[in-house]
Amino acid sequence: MENINLIINAVYIISVILFIVGLKLLGHPASARKGNFLSAIGMLVAILATLLNERIISYELIIVSIVVGSMIGVVIAKKVEMTSMPEMVSLLNGVGGLASLMVALALLLNNSQLSTYLILIALLTSLIGSITFSGSIVAWAKLSGSIPRVISSGSTVFKGQAFVNIFLLVCIVLLTTVLTLWPESLNLISVFVVLCLVLGVMLVLPIGGADMPVVISLLNSYSGIAACAAGFAVFNNLLIVAGALVGASGIILTSIMCKAMNRSLSNVLFSGFTNPTDKTFEIEGEVTPMSPEDAFYLLEAAQSVLVIPGYGMAVAQAQHAMKELQALLERNAAEVVYGIHPVAGRMPGHMNVLLAEADVSYEILLEMDEVNARMEGFDVAIVIGANDVVNPAARDIKGSPIFGMPIINADLAKNVFILKRSMSSGFAGVDNPLFFKPNARMLFGDAKTTINGIIKQFSD
Ligand code: TAP
Repeated sequence: MENINLIINAVYIISVILFIVGLKLLGHPASARKGNFLSAIGMLVAILATLLNERIISYELIIVSIVVGSMIGVVIAKKVEMTSMPEMVSLLNGVGGLASLMVALALLLNNSQLSTYLILIALLTSLIGSITFSGSIVAWAKLSGSIPRVISSGSTVFKGQAFVNIFLLVCIVLLTTVLTLWPESLNLISVFVVLCLVLGVMLVLPIGGADMPVVISLLNSYSGIAACAAGFAVFNNLLIVAGALVGASGIILTSIMCKAMNRSLSNVLFSGFTNPTDKTFEIEGEVTPMSPEDAFYLLEAAQSVLVIPGYGMAVAQAQHAMKELQALLERNAAEVVYGIHPVAGRMPGHMNVLLAEADVSYEILLEMDEVNARMEGFDVAIVIGANDVVNPAARDIKGSPIFGMPIINADLAKNVFILKRSMSSGFAGVDNPLFFKPNARMLFGDAKTTINGIIKQFSD
């Protein structure tokens, strides 16, 4: 028994190393596939080592679960559209939370002689696991619009919501105390779980629209923390470390997203998307529209071109057309690079995924700071369906609701082409002085149609 435990823990260390190296590799698009593969190997090794554990009761059940689970996983992963990734992540987070909840319930209901410490840890696991599960299901429903009449995709706020949340929290704390002090009252556990599930629903209901990616990243972190707590409950070192890794990386991603939007997490979680300050302000200058033909003449003479994609590129599905235009510009001896803002689009890495789909090389996807450092050197900056992430108000106008949000300084390039359908604002609802700058030209229309118009000029 001693020796087997030693072997299992030694293999766990190998798994943890694979997880950490995998996470590191996931940090760059070029190495991300390898990182994913290494982490999956780490998980396989961990599962095999756990099967050596002498406390295992039924190998048959485990094998059936692994086969059924793997089959479902493969089918879903193959079928899921790139645009439905957030929904899929949401479901996976929920299942993670549910698994931790099950582990905690099994421990609580199958052992009559648990120590106070173990009861507390198991209740904590149940709390976080339940919130992750029900919160993720609500997030999934909001994103997929699957239950439109019950759950709207926007934020659902009602009078007395804060009061209901506080009431739920007080009941949960009281029940935790009762269940810990009087373990024989364990039949109250079902009430405890129901309250935790309702709390999960209540926490996600007020969040909606483009704030959903932040809450999904946070729920991802919760699922890790729940697994970590489950690890303490069943004395499994690997679960503790792997859960902590997921919990920490989810929190880091959440914080990166909030920082890149210049919003606090509490603002995202509790207030829907509302800004206290005025969204409109005096903008000087004139808007200058331009045709694809005029754009062609300037692009034909350009030596260096910066492409700044945003949410509108995803809407227009203009990435393939842009790749085609990129090839024409390169054939014309121009340098083409892409400037990617950390929160361009509606989910982390949204633009990278779209451009990878169109086979744009990772080498020319540059980060915001890199392109800002050489902005004055670009002959043309092409803004495709991006708005907030290039809004100079964030840099220059103190009263602006997005003041302080880091942006790509497209207005400092020699010429800026802005491809969008109208003068309407972006996600933040803030007017954009970029459109009125003397070096800016508006190419109104659907981004894909406009780019195809420019491509046609090149071939003519
Ligand atoms: P937005 O500021 O939302 O602007 C997108 C622009 O695309 C709109 O102004 C729209 O203008 C244009 N557009 C829509 N459909 C188009 C089409 N078919 N062809 C051409 N243009 C089209 O996008 P962004 O600059 O990418 O900024 C992202 C925003 O989302 C930020 O405010 C960010 O904080 C927020 N957000 C992002 C994330 C992540 S992780 N990415 C998470 C939460 C929130 P028209 O209607 O005039 O065409």
